[in-house]
Amino acid sequence: MRRKRLTFPIERPLLWLGLSVFVAAIFAADTVTDREIAFAVLYVAVILIAAQSGRTRFVATIGIGCAVLTVVSYILTTQGDRQSGLVNGALSLLAIATTTFLAIRNETTEARARQALADLAHMARVTTMGELTASIAHEVSQPLAGIVANGHAALRWLDASPPSPDEARRALGRVVTDADRAGEVIGRVRRLVTKSPPSRDRVDLVELIDEALVLARAEIRRNRVVLRTDYGVDLPPPLVDRVQLQQVVLNLVVNAAETMGGLETGPRDLLVSAASDASKITVSVRDTGASLAPVAIAQVFEAFYTTKPGGMGMGLAISRSIVEAHGGTIYAALNHPRGMVFGFTLPLNTTRTV
Ligand SMILES: Nc1ncnc2c1ncn2[C@@H]1O[C@H](COP(=O)(O)OP(=O)(O)O)[C@@H](O)[C@H]1O
Ligand SMILES: [Mg+2]
Repeated sequence: MRRKRLTFPIERPLLWLGLSVFVAAIFAADTVTDREIAFAVLYVAVILIAAQSGRTRFVATIGIGCAVLTVVSYILTTQGDRQSGLVNGALSLLAIATTTFLAIRNETTEARARQALADLAHMARVTTMGELTASIAHEVSQPLAGIVANGHAALRWLDASPPSPDEARRALGRVVTDADRAGEVIGRVRRLVTKSPPSRDRVDLVELIDEALVLARAEIRRNRVVLRTDYGVDLPPPLVDRVQLQQVVLNLVVNAAETMGGLETGPRDLLVSAASDASKITVSVRDTGASLAPVAIAQVFEAFYTTKPGGMGMGLAISRSIVEAHGGTIYAALNHPRGMVFGFTLPLNTTRTV
């Protein structure tokens, strides 16, 4: 799961072309050379390339296709010894069948592991949302209160003598804005708790982080934390699972807010930043809360490690799985003069994601 993999996006016509040329070359060589020269074993390479697509049905089709081509080219070949040609052909077929089988089995196991991670991540997300319910309810009740107040105001402007439709319209405009705001918050929560299959999209990272911050806003406020953001210009859009990445950001931000909520004195500054270089994007969440001891830093990403009375200790473990499934790394370091920096990197080249 943690290993990086090349991808073979079967949507790409150029890759199709390359693969077809490769297959045609093997087929031609296998057909024009003597029977006992088993060029067909090279089909194994074709199957291995196809396996990078991560699609079992595609791999099976390619495997069967290669086997058929091997037989066809044996029939078409006119030169060479029949007997040893038959043995070599059979060996090629065996190699093709074994490779196809192993590639499919490997992929099925990985798919199951990916699904298990997705399920676990979903469960943790629902739990986090449960913990944030009070905060989110607050986030929705504010615009609702605004709607009620402005609705009353609009009625008063209309009932006045003379009525003032302009003022009423303005009040109704505010009603619509507030209703939109409440609707957006609910929409975000819904997207996070709805069970959707893992996906990969090019996403605007700033938008992704901002959405997570909206959900954590009341939690940030409740812990009297001062939030700042610092986004690099022209951040390239990474290829990620939007919901899962939002979950990571949310976990880091909520952890930071919680640790600072327990402070007796000192500033409660939270800095969320995103920057990129040629090969990767780095997102970091910097707080001025408790500084962890080196032994704790080594353990925080382990499942069930928690120092909170009601904590689950799953937030960082799941965040690590998600980040690593995206080909990135997650880290924890000391902030200066105090607090912690939790962050993660995402590679900018195309890698397999959960
Ligand atoms: N920003 C932070 N500052 C200090 N400690 C942290 C921070 N984030 C996480 N931790 C530590 O890591 C532990 C594990 O975090 P997490 O996996 O999110 O589980 P939980 O939040 O349920 O405890 C926390 O209990 C806390 O001790
Ligand atoms: Mg947590």
